[in-house]
This record gives sequence, structure tokens and C-alpha cells, in this order.
Amino acid sequence: MELQNAPIGVFDSGFGGLTVAREIMRQIPNETIVYFGDTARVPYGTKSQTTILKYSKQIVRFLRTKEVKAIVVACNTASALALEEIRRELEIPILGVIKPGAKIAANTTKNGKIGIIATEATIQSRVYTHFIQDLNPELTVIGKACPLFVPIVEEGTFLNDPILDAIANRYLEELKQHKIDTLILGCTHYPLLRSTLSRLMGEDVTLVNPAYETARELQRLLRKEGLENTQGQEIERIHTFYVSDVPDRFKQFAASILPCSAERTAQINIEEY
Ligand code: DGL
Repeated sequence: MELQNAPIGVFDSGFGGLTVAREIMRQIPNETIVYFGDTARVPYGTKSQTTILKYSKQIVRFLRTKEVKAIVVACNTASALALEEIRRELEIPILGVIKPGAKIAANTTKNGKIGIIATEATIQSRVYTHFIQDLNPELTVIGKACPLFVPIVEEGTFLNDPILDAIANRYLEELKQHKIDTLILGCTHYPLLRSTLSRLMGEDVTLVNPAYETARELQRLLRKEGLENTQGQEIERIHTFYVSDVPDRFKQFAASILPCSAERTAQINIEEY
């Protein structure tokens, strides 16, 4: 296979990263994706850096067996805690979601106050803050870990329930007090809570989904490296999906958000890599 026509590897701790895969499919329809969701070991957001790094390296080794030409770390937690070290050892391009998310937030804010909601591990790493303040040291960044959001999205039944409003209000209170005007959805699952978060934060706060800018950044990177897919539109792109636990719930979730089928999602033993 010609290198340009090789797939892009995309991975996440579970199915949340499909929000990033969906954006790549939408913005760069010529590319083919091999997606891996670590459904057996999710969540990453409460784990140590050592563990997240070990898991991420195993996944990168697996994706390389699929001859991917580039890798997107769709998971914010793995982007915050594992990306830099993996990049040092890898000879193909690799991209995370944090830098693109930080860039768009820094360009969006008008009053200079940016909020970030994410997992415990991402907030503690302060990586979003570092990237934002590298771009503009004048900006104030307020982070808030929202650990209950991931299980709520995965469970699915409380997405339009007063329980979600009560929990979200508690988490968002501090960000509102700081009068932020921009809020980064710093976890793959949170775009699925967008309508609730947007209603509770009010119309003066712009929500930033890093997936959008990540797909744009990926396109720029492929172009710069001469890696854009050269096959014409007439060739159908068959995306493939792998998970580390039984695929049933993953397939259900994929069917609700992807424009393509993930019916043939396969389970692999990631510990072998
Ligand atoms: N995918 C993770 C992230 O974006 C959220 C779920 C987890 O904790 O593993 O940070």
C-alpha cells in the first residue's frame, strides 16, 4: 500500500473518542480510520501517569500493526499524560487533542478568562493551562474536574434528567463565579452533554470542542508531511474499529453518532502488545 493511502490510527480510552473520529470523517472524508477504544480499561481519567503511558504505548504498538501513517490521540487524558513521551519514540506523526483545543480557546476568549472541564488526571496535569499561557501569558485559566460526567454519558439514561442539571450546576458554579467567557470541553465525552452545559453556562459563554480543531490540525499535518490520501472520491473508505472488551455497547454508541457502520467492530487482547 502506498503510504499516502494508509489509514490514520485514532485511539481513546473507550468510545468517547468517536466524537473526534466523527469530526475527522466529516472534515477529511478522503482518509480512512482505524479506531481503537480501550473499553476494558476505561476510565483513564482516574489513573496514574505510569498506567496511562503503559496503556497508550500498547495501543500505539497495536495501531502500528495496521500500518497507520499517523496517529491521533483522541483521549484528552492520554494526550495530557502520554503524548510527549510517545512522540519521542515514534517515527510517524502523532497528534493530540489538547494543543488544538487550547489554540481555539485562546483565539475565542474576549475577556481573557477560560474555563476547562476535564477528568481529574487532565486537570491535575495543567497541560491545557500551559499550552494556553504559552500562546498568551495574560490569559487566566480555571480548571475543574468533573468525574461524574463520564459515567453519566456512558450510562446514557440521565442525559435529559434533573440529576444531570444538579451535578453540572455544582461543577460549573466556580467557573461561573470567575466569569469565564470560554469553556473547553476537555474530555471526549463532554460534547455529548453540550446542550445541558450550554444552557447552564448561558449564551455569553462559548463552548469549545477540541475535536473540531484537531481534525483541521490533522489535515494541515498530513498536507505538510505529504501524507494526504491520493485516492479519488470514487473509492469507498472502510473504517475499522477495535475494542478491548466485548463490542456490543460500543457498536450501539457508534451507531448513534457515526455516519458509517461499526457493526464489524472486533475485540482484541491489548495486553498482548
Ligand atoms: N477519554 C477520556 C478523556 O478524554 C475520558 C474517559 C476516561 O476517563 O477515560 O479524557
